[in-house]
This record gives sequence, C-alpha cells and structure tokens, in this order.
Amino acid sequence: MNDKPESILKVRSLTKSVQLENKTLALLQPIELTVNSGETIAIVGSSGSGKTTLLSILAGLDLPTSGEVYLKNHGLHQLNEEQRSQVRANHVGFIFQQFLLINSLTALENVMLPAELANIEDAEQRGIELLEKVGLGDRLQHYPSQLSGGEQQRVAIARAFIAKPDILFADEPTGNLDTKTGLHITDLLFDLNEQLGTTLVLVTHDPKLAARCQRQVEMDSGVLSEATNNSDFVATETPTVANVG
Ligand SMILES: Nc1ncnc2c1ncn2[C@@H]1O[C@H](COP(=O)(O)OP(=O)(O)O)[C@@H](O)[C@H]1O
Ligand SMILES: [Mg+2]
Repeated sequence: MNDKPESILKVRSLTKSVQLENKTLALLQPIELTVNSGETIAIVGSSGSGKTTLLSILAGLDLPTSGEVYLKNHGLHQLNEEQRSQVRANHVGFIFQQFLLINSLTALENVMLPAELANIEDAEQRGIELLEKVGLGDRLQHYPSQLSGGEQQRVAIARAFIAKPDILFADEPTGNLDTKTGLHITDLLFDLNEQLGTTLVLVTHDPKLAARCQRQVEMDSGVLSEATNNSDFVATETPTVANVG
C-alpha cells in the first residue's frame, strides 16, 4: 500500500521575469508548489501580484524564465508550443479572466472546440448538455457579441468542462457574475471535482470561494506562500449540526 497522494502538478524554483528597456522586472520569485490529484486550491492575493502570470505557466500557456513545471509528469518547461498544446488538449481546462471566446463561432461551437481538438466523439451532445447546465440552453446559436458578460463567462466555463480535464485552472471564475449565478457556477466547479476527481486551481478575490477549497495559498509581489490568516477563509456556508436538525 502506498498512502502517499499522487501529485498532478509539481513546481520547482519557478521564476518569471520580463525584459523592459533598461531593466529586468521579476514577476515571480522562485516558487515551489505541489498540488495533489483531486485537490482544490485557491490562489489569493492583491491585483498585480502575479496570479494570472503563474496560472498561465501552470497551464502550459506561457513558459517560465527558469525552473521546472511538471503537469501529469510532462515537463512543460521542456516542451515546445505544439507539445504543450497537446498536453493542454488532453489534460487541462482553463477559464480565463477575459473569457477569450472566438467571436466568429457560436456559443455551442465555442464549447465544442476543445472536445474536437481532443477527438471526443459526442462533442455536440455534450456541448448542448453543458450549456444547459450553465443555464444557456436557449443561447446555443448566439455569437459572443450577442451575449452579456456573465453569459460569456458561462460559455467559457462550459468550454472548460467539455474535454473532462484532469485539472481545471480558473482565473476569477465568478468575477463577472451576479451572486446567484456565481454560486451556481461555483457549485458546478465543485460538482466536477467530486464527480470526476477534477483538480481545481482557482484564482479568486472571493473569500467564500477560497474557503470552499481545501487549501489556500497567497501571492504577494510574486512570492507564493501558504495562506497564514485562515480566519479570512472560514467557510460560512457549511451547515452546523445545530441548524440541521
Ligand atoms: N508581459 C508583461 N510585461 C510587463 N509586465 C507584465 C507582463 N505581464 C504581467 N506584467 C506585470 O506583472 C504583474 C503581475 O501581473 P498579473 O499576473 O496579471 O497579476 P494578477 O493576476 O495577480 O493581478 C503586474 O504588475 C503586471 O503589470
Ligand atoms: Mg489576474
């Protein structure tokens, strides 16, 4: 018996810096992080602290300046763009802060795209089901320009789910949604985690969403650490025994 949990993501001494005209700007200080398969983890921290930069590298969308990132034992830092896009197609879902829907495709076509890239057969049927789940069953043929910001966000979420990713990265997934829709979307994320064992890595400003994750880490000026002030993340939604019976 091996009780050690299997890790899905391993980061060793990862840094990111960008070259400006006359100086180098360090965006991420050496980062160490291990995420176990099936774990839910929230990345919190103020605006401009490097959360989106880190998420892009973890998901294989961008490369680190130095250090190592292993996703399902693929060394993303050693792969070229085409190889990384293959790893993404097979294992990764991503919900971007800016949605990044394709304007010339309908809602349904946007959602189906990752499934087609991953050669999933029932892409259309799954796409319709997912859009129904996020409450957009009557918007299948709408183009992004015909959808509100919150609706585009929900299309992006359905798109992230379709290829049954092993790990889902979400950058402020509820940032553009009203409270009720946000709660519904959050439930969908955690259902996916429970039903399929999908690992969730969420960037969020919402303390309630952070509290629903098993673990919270904090980004501060490019430095990542385990969140210390856990009282910020006390789950307020959990029913106690007293108010159940
Ligand atoms: N390509 C880039 N060139 C220069 N600065 C950048 C670049 N990308 C991000 N930054 C800077 O890096 C910092 C972190 O950005 P970001 O990761 O988007 O932060 P967060 O998501 O936490 O708000 C910001 O100060 C931003 O201006
Ligand atoms: Mg950001």
